[in-house]
Parts: sequence; C-alpha cells; structure tokens
Amino acid sequence: MIVGVPKEIKSNENRVAMTPAGVMELTRKKHTVYIQTDAGEGSGFADYEYESAGAVILPTIESVYAIAEMIVKVKEPIESEYALIRPHHLLFTYFHFASYQPLTQAMIASKATCLAYETVEMPDRSLPLLIPMSEVAGRMAIQEGAKYLEKPVKGRGILLGGVPGVPPGKVLILGGGIVGTQAAKMAAGLGALVTILDVNLQRLRYLSDIMPNNVITMHSNEYNIRQLVVNHDLIVGAVLIPGAKAPRLITRDMLKMMRPGTVLVDVAVDQGGCIETCYPTTHDNPTYIVDDVVHYCVANMPGAVPYTSTIALTNATLPYVTLLADKGWKQACKQRSDLKLGLNIINGQVVYKGVADAFQLPLEEVNRFL
Ligand SMILES: NC(=O)c1ccc[n+]([C@@H]2O[C@H](COP(=O)([O-])OP(=O)(O)OC[C@H]3O[C@@H](n4cnc5c(N)ncnc54)[C@H](O)[C@@H]3O)[C@@H](O)[C@H]2O)c1
Repeated sequence: MIVGVPKEIKSNENRVAMTPAGVMELTRKKHTVYIQTDAGEGSGFADYEYESAGAVILPTIESVYAIAEMIVKVKEPIESEYALIRPHHLLFTYFHFASYQPLTQAMIASKATCLAYETVEMPDRSLPLLIPMSEVAGRMAIQEGAKYLEKPVKGRGILLGGVPGVPPGKVLILGGGIVGTQAAKMAAGLGALVTILDVNLQRLRYLSDIMPNNVITMHSNEYNIRQLVVNHDLIVGAVLIPGAKAPRLITRDMLKMMRPGTVLVDVAVDQGGCIETCYPTTHDNPTYIVDDVVHYCVANMPGAVPYTSTIALTNATLPYVTLLADKGWKQACKQRSDLKLGLNIINGQVVYKGVADAFQLPLEEVNRFL
C-alpha cells in the first residue's frame, strides 16, 4: 500500500504520525511510505533519518495527499486540508468528530474512509490509542506540578521529595485510572506522600497492591476530599466518566480551605475539568491564580513533549497501520473488532453512533461496507 505522512499543520502541534522505525517496518513489508519534508522536525526526526529507513521525502502536503492511499496523521485535518482529501483515501488519525461539526460535514463530503484513533476500542472497553497520551499526561502532571510549587512561580515553595530532616510534599490524586496511576508512580518516585482517590473499589484494591508504601488509597467522596484539600500541596485532577463531562470534585469554596501556593493540575480539563475554577490554558500561558491557588489546566499536555509523545503514540498505532497496509481496511476491520470500532465515516455515511447522535445524522450499519 502507499502510505502518506503529512506534516501536522494545526498550531502548536509538533508530533508526527510515524517515526523512522515505523517507516522501516512498513518498507520491509514492501509498502511505500511518503513523508512530507520536515514532518518529523518538531519531534526530533530529520528527513535523512526517514530516508535511510526507506521513505521517500516529498516537498509539499499536496504531493503527499495526491500520491497516498492511506494518510496517517496525528490531529484531525484542518480546513486547508479538506480539499486534498479524495474518496479513495483512508484517513487514520485523531478526529474527535463529535466535538466539531464542520469537520464531520467536510469528511462526509469527501467520501473518504475515516478511522478515528480515539474510538478504536478493545473488548475490555479500554482505548489503546488514547492510553499512551494519558500515560504522558499523567507523568507530566507531577513534573509540571513540582515546577509550579516553586516560589518564583507563586507556589508554596516546597520541594516535593523533601530532604533529610524535612518531610516531603503531599500529593492528592483524584481518579486512579491511567493518568492517576502514572501520576502516582512519578510522585511516589520523587518521595512525596501520595493519596489516590477513586470511586471504583476494584481499582483501589489493585492500586493498593501494586503501589509503594508512600501511596495510600481512599474512597472518593466529598467528605474525604474536603478533609484532604486542607493539607495537600499538589492536587491532580484525573477523573473520567466515559461519554460525560467530568464531575466537579473541587468546588470554588474549597479553594479557601487550601494553603496559599497549593498547585492544582486539572488533567481532566479536556472533558470540562473536575475543578470548578478550571478553564483550558495553553503551553504558552499554562497557569493562573484563583484565591492564591495556582491552576495548571493545559488541554494538550503531551504537546509539550513531542519526542516522547510521538514515540508513545506510534508504538500503539504502528501495529494497526501495518495491518491496514497489509490487508486493506475492509479485511483488517473484519479481522479486528477493536479496529472496526474506529470506523466513523465511510463513503459519506456516518457509521459511529456517537457522531450520528451528536449532530442528528443518519447512522449507517458499518457491516454494510465490509
Ligand atoms: N490534558 C491533557 O492533555 C490530557 C491528556 C490525556 C488525558 N486527559 C484526560 O485525563 C482524564 C483521565 O483520563 P484516564 O485515561 O486516566 O481515564 P481512566 O478512565 O483511565 O481513569 C479515570 C478514573 O476516574 C475514576 N473516577 C470516576 N469518577 C470519579 C470520582 N467521582 N472520583 C474519583 N475518581 C473517579 C474512574 O473510576 C477511573 O478509575 C480524561 O478526562 C482524559 O481525557 C487529558
């Protein structure tokens, strides 16, 4: 198959959909890979590295779309790309259709086949192409939180790990899923005292088994949260209720109970946030203060570490890309139910319920196209 990898053009997006290692894997299997020049620049991969792995470098985004059968990307196509998309294209990327109607309409009009990373779903309901970004964001939450606890950036002036003779900082993590677990690991590794709250007792049992002794678990409820916010230095919001807005676990009045310079990192900001006073920020201006409490609410945290994020994402996408290239999308989706759930739009028809429901569009039965 002919695979094309354009350079991401959405602002502040430095990731790329394929690494030189991915190119080598595909070209070894006799597929042809075209990479737009400088596509890997933001993630630290040079054109010559792709070339030596077997890719052909093309000068423009137009030339990549014109020659490729499968387009592999990171972010959804933006308006200037819509006209480049043709009915024969298979697009494999994050789309998040339900949040943006013009994109949905444009992809319907293109008649291309749209496979969305975010809806590829395993039989146990886990989302293998979202997990890597949650892992990055969870680990980053502590790195960023530790930074903003420093006095010059309005934090409490606390070193999370403490030093001999000075106790470590205290970290409260709301939600013990992927983000929460990775955050807890990082905070515990620094030597902080960590409390994880979750409503899922099974999850708490598991975390209690695998976490080191400086991590404790507690049931998530308002009573416990009110007790804990008083003396924790860094609070990480990492809850998720699939398909719903994040529950507001930290309310505005709780800010007055916290000590000045407490840092809140609301990773769940992309689902509306679990902290009432949270609104989305960017890497250019990541924090703001409310009631002397530092808020860090960057909606695209992995974007700050594109080298790590690109490799983490492509580790997860490459097996699917390889299968799609080997078998074609119809055969690949017949073979893998997780991949089939990634199909959102085919030949101008919406085949994913969440997207059809979001915009009251007719829902077509996906098997009709396989
Ligand atoms: N800001 C970013 O850059 C970024 C990056 C990746 C993920 N995220 C977001 O981070 C959030 C967490 O993602 P995840 O992959 O860890 O999800 P997950 O499903 O793995 O974990 C969510 C956890 O929250 C728990 N939970 C639900 N309600 C709760 C409550 N009331 N109190 C405590 N816990 C509760 C669930 O039981 C679950 O264990 C999501 O909103 C996700 O979109 C943001």
